[in-house]
Amino acid sequence: MGRCCFYAVGTLSLLLLVTSVTLLVARVFQKAVDQTIEKNIVLRNGTETFDSWEKPPLPVYTQFYFFNVTNPEEILEGETPHVTEIGPYTYRELRDKANIQFGDNGTTISAVSNKAYVFERNLSIGDPKVDLIRTLNIPVVTAMEWARNHFLKEIIEAFLKAYQQKMFVTHTVHELLWGYKDELLSLISIFKSDISPYFGLFYGKNGTNDGDYVFLTGEDSYLNFTKIVEWNGKKSLDWWTTEKCNMINGTDGDSFHPLLAKDEMLYVFPSDFCRSVYLTFSGFESIQGLPAFRYKVPAEILANTSENAGFCIPEGNCLGSGVLNVSICKNGAPIIMSFPHFYQADEKFLSAIAGLHPNEEYHETFVDINPLTGVILRAAKRFQINIYVRKLDEFVETGNMRTLVFPVMYLNESVLIDKVTANRLKSVINTTLIITNIPYIIMALGVFFGLIFTGLACRGQGSMDEGTADERAPLIRT
Ligand SMILES: *[C@@H]1O[C@H](CO)[C@@H](O)[C@H](O)[C@H]1NC(C)=O
Ligand SMILES: *[C@@H]1O[C@H](CO)[C@@H](O)[C@H](O)[C@H]1NC(C)=O
Ligand SMILES: *[C@@H]1O[C@H](CO)[C@@H](O)[C@H](O)[C@H]1NC(C)=O
Ligand SMILES: *[C@@H]1O[C@H](CO)[C@@H](O)[C@H](O)[C@H]1NC(C)=O
Ligand SMILES: *[C@@H]1O[C@H](CO)[C@@H](O)[C@H](O)[C@H]1NC(C)=O
Ligand SMILES: *[C@@H]1O[C@H](CO)[C@@H](O)[C@H](O)[C@H]1NC(C)=O
Ligand SMILES: *[C@@H]1O[C@H](CO)[C@@H](O)[C@H](O)[C@H]1NC(C)=O
Ligand SMILES: *[C@@H]1O[C@H](CO)[C@@H](O)[C@H](O)[C@H]1NC(C)=O
Ligand SMILES: *[C@@H]1O[C@H](CO)[C@@H](O)[C@H](O)[C@H]1NC(C)=O
Ligand SMILES: *[C@@H]1O[C@H](CO)[C@@H](O)[C@H](O)[C@H]1NC(C)=O
Repeated sequence: MGRCCFYAVGTLSLLLLVTSVTLLVARVFQKAVDQTIEKNIVLRNGTETFDSWEKPPLPVYTQFYFFNVTNPEEILEGETPHVTEIGPYTYRELRDKANIQFGDNGTTISAVSNKAYVFERNLSIGDPKVDLIRTLNIPVVTAMEWARNHFLKEIIEAFLKAYQQKMFVTHTVHELLWGYKDELLSLISIFKSDISPYFGLFYGKNGTNDGDYVFLTGEDSYLNFTKIVEWNGKKSLDWWTTEKCNMINGTDGDSFHPLLAKDEMLYVFPSDFCRSVYLTFSGFESIQGLPAFRYKVPAEILANTSENAGFCIPEGNCLGSGVLNVSICKNGAPIIMSFPHFYQADEKFLSAIAGLHPNEEYHETFVDINPLTGVILRAAKRFQINIYVRKLDEFVETGNMRTLVFPVMYLNESVLIDKVTANRLKSVINTTLIITNIPYIIMALGVFFGLIFTGLACRGQGSMDEGTADERAPLIRT
């Protein structure tokens, strides 16, 4: 009986150790967890994944910062513009997906993303309906560029004189963002009915969407989770000059696939930026006790490289690193995108304007993602809207201005996971941690029985050698 027990313990220990090592080498539990996650993080009607995609539970805030111009007369005489940053004016986004329709056996889903903006006084420096900002007269600059070689040139020139339209205007933050009736645009809209008499940087963007999307649900592969396949009925863009630049890559940036690998590039297509971009791994973070990978938009995105040559339109007309001419996708307005404060841009853009201070922490775009689930824990999308201005001989209003990429406004669209959601996610992650650690638990048991076996073996030997061992044993046990 004792001898039998002795061998049973030995065999059990060996079996447990072999099993645990086999499980570890074959990654059985790891694979089971991965497969469960792959199966569950799919857009399927009635699932939690679907619900939080349809109505994102975390509050997203957009903060606007304006550049107030302090020396307009001097700028017209050819001096360096001085600007002061004013902000934030913070709006909470109300988001939901609408017109949802599944297609192709559940592998695709079409939808629009509605966004509305509600002002948050507590998170803002002032009242957008009161605070005044002096900035470039964007409708006038746009019209002058457009009318330069146009039969309407004389009419517009006469109008600018009659109404004393200036290069710089002062409007409230609310007007600049959400729209005001512009006299010049009102005039042009008589001739061109597709031009709105209203102008605002976010005019028409409250309660509306940025177009029809078709996404992959992740049913065919978890790597394709919420990947865009079509936008406004097109599989690629047609603004840029190369096929690669025109590609619509990745997701819309509001969700990412689970089981992230450090070395992968995350592609996103932010439609307001008019092109796909990618983010690369930059380090580990911990948010509310949850592990995260940080991915950043690298400087190469807007660098003056041969890869980006397709974004220089008209072809070959590269403005330099750190800026993107998006005029073609903004109804011809001479809008130039950049990172805030010309972060990561050529020195020439920065030194042309006084009052800018680029800073990595405040001006980079990043996203912190839990690598197991693909859930966004924290993110900040930041970009700046600039206007391309120069002296135009046809229009005296431009004075003696330098050629400038003139900053008007930048924004920070950010999200941060709250405690309750973080705790829910933590319990999911802990469960998977326990499951993936089962082999180690088995191994520990194996070691435990191994120790008993060794103990028994030693005792067995001891009792054969010395009679006193049996008397000592009970003392040890107490
Ligand atoms: C999801 O299912 C509900 C109830 O079965 C149904 O009313 C709804 O239309 C479905 N949604 C989609 C997008 O198919
Ligand atoms: C749907 O699935 C069936 C069988 O799996 C396949 O034959 C069919 O081509 C699929 N349809 C589409 C639109 O993918
Ligand atoms: C946007 O629309 C919502 C609801 O329609 C409204 O409550 C909100 O005040 C609007 N925001 C702005 C900035 O006008
Ligand atoms: C704004 O702050 C005031 C006073 O600090 C507080 O009473 C109010 O509830 C806050 N409003 C919001 C929407 O957070
Ligand atoms: C912006 O500048 C104008 C002109 O100097 C000034 O009247 C206005 O108060 C400034 N705006 C803010 C918010 O400080
Ligand atoms: C979906 O994922 C698979 C595997 O990663 C890939 O081969 C396929 O091209 C993807 N489909 C699309 C439309 O991107
Ligand atoms: C889109 O992705 C492909 C690789 O899949 C890449 O070659 C191309 O440069 C990307 N385009 C953009 C605009 O990011
Ligand atoms: C962009 O790069 C090309 C090639 O390196 C160079 O010739 C050109 O001057 C650069 N353009 C600007 C605006 O920096
Ligand atoms: C920006 O792009 C537009 C549209 O292609 C073009 O007409 C304009 O000349 C470009 N602006 C600059 C400064 O290169
Ligand atoms: C957004 O970015 C600005 C600077 O770009 C920063 O001051 C602000 O704190 C950020 N907001 C959040 C919520 O991270």
